[in-house]
Amino acid sequence: MPVSPSLQRPLSLPLIAAPMFLISGPELALACCKAGIVGSFPALNQRTSEGFEEWLVQMEHGLAEHQARYPDAPSVPYAVNLIVHKTNPRWQADLALCVKHQVPIIITSLGAASQVVEAVHGYGGLVFHDVTNQKHARKAADAGVDGIIAVAAGAGGHAGTINPFVLVHEIREVFDGTIILAGALSNGEDLLAAQAMGADLCYMGTRFINTTESLAEKAYQHMVIAAVSGDIMYTPAVSGIPASFMRQSLEAAGYPMDKLNQPGAVDYGEKLKPVTDEAKAWKTVWSAGQGVSQITDVVPVATLVERLSQQYRAAKDRLDTL
Ligand SMILES: Cc1cc2nc3c(=O)[nH]c(=O)nc-3n(C[C@H](O)[C@H](O)[C@H](O)COP(=O)(O)O)c2cc1C
Repeated sequence: MPVSPSLQRPLSLPLIAAPMFLISGPELALACCKAGIVGSFPALNQRTSEGFEEWLVQMEHGLAEHQARYPDAPSVPYAVNLIVHKTNPRWQADLALCVKHQVPIIITSLGAASQVVEAVHGYGGLVFHDVTNQKHARKAADAGVDGIIAVAAGAGGHAGTINPFVLVHEIREVFDGTIILAGALSNGEDLLAAQAMGADLCYMGTRFINTTESLAEKAYQHMVIAAVSGDIMYTPAVSGIPASFMRQSLEAAGYPMDKLNQPGAVDYGEKLKPVTDEAKAWKTVWSAGQGVSQITDVVPVATLVERLSQQYRAAKDRLDTL
C-alpha cells in the first residue's frame, strides 16, 4: 500500500477526519489524533492568521501532553486544510505558519499545489490534494503531491459526481501515491470496502459533524440525525458552486424545492441570490453528505473511533469466512 510509513504506522484505522468549514477546530482534531486517526481543520476556521497560529500551538501542546502521558504510543499526525486560491488572500501567510510549525500534513483544495509541495516537502511534511475527477488528479500528480483525495458522489461539502468505484480506478491510472477515498463513508465496513476497491486511506466528514468535539450547533446535529440520503440536495443555489446541503436547511432558509432541481440558471429572487461570500452562505444553510442516513447519535470521537474499529474488524472476520 503506498502510504508513507510515518503516517501508516501510528494509525489505529486507515482514516482521516476531513476538514470542515465552521465545524472542525483543534478540539476535534486533537480528539481524533488521540484516538489514533488523523484529525484536521481548515485554516480559515480562524478569522485571522494570528488566530490560526494559536490553534497550531494548541495542537502542538495537546499532542506533546498526550505523548508525555503515553510515551509508548506513536504520535499521530494532524492535517491543516489550505484553500490555495486567489480569492483567499491569507493562503501564503497561512502556509508560512504551517512551515514554521511543521504541520505534518497539508490538505489543499483548488489552485496550484506545486508551491505548497515545495514548501511542505522542505520540512518533510506531506501534501494531499482533493479532486473530483481524473483531469485534476493528473494535475495534482504532476505537481508532486503525496496523496490524492478522491471526492466521490454523495460527499458532504463540494462533493463530486462520479461513482467511487470508477473514481478510485481512474485516479490510480494516473497516480501511484496514496489515494484517500471520500464520500458518504460512515461505518467501519465502509473503510474495508474502500481499501478493497484500491483506496489506501479513507476520509470522513459528515460522520464527524455529530461528535461532541465538533463546533456544529445542536440544531445542526439534530438535523443530521433526522435527515436521510434523499434529503441531500447537490445544488449551486447557495453559493454559486455546487455543494451538498440538507433539504430541511434549504427549506428553512426559504429555497423553493421545485426550482432547485431545474436545469440552468434559476432566479430565486433577491433574498435568495447566490451569496458570493461562502462563509455567510454556509452559516445559514447546512451542508452534509448522503451518509446522514447512517448517523443516529452524537458521540465523543473516542467512542466513534472505537465503534468504527469494531465494525472494521468484524467486517474483516466476516470476509475471512467467505
Ligand atoms: C459542513 C462541511 C464543511 C466542509 N468544509 C470543507 C472545507 O472547508 N474544506 C475542504 O477541503 N472540504 C470541506 N468539506 C468537505 C470534507 O472535507 C470532505 O471532503 C467531505 O465531508 C467527505 O464526504 P462526507 O461528508 O460524505 O464524509 C466540508 C464538508 C462538510 C460536510
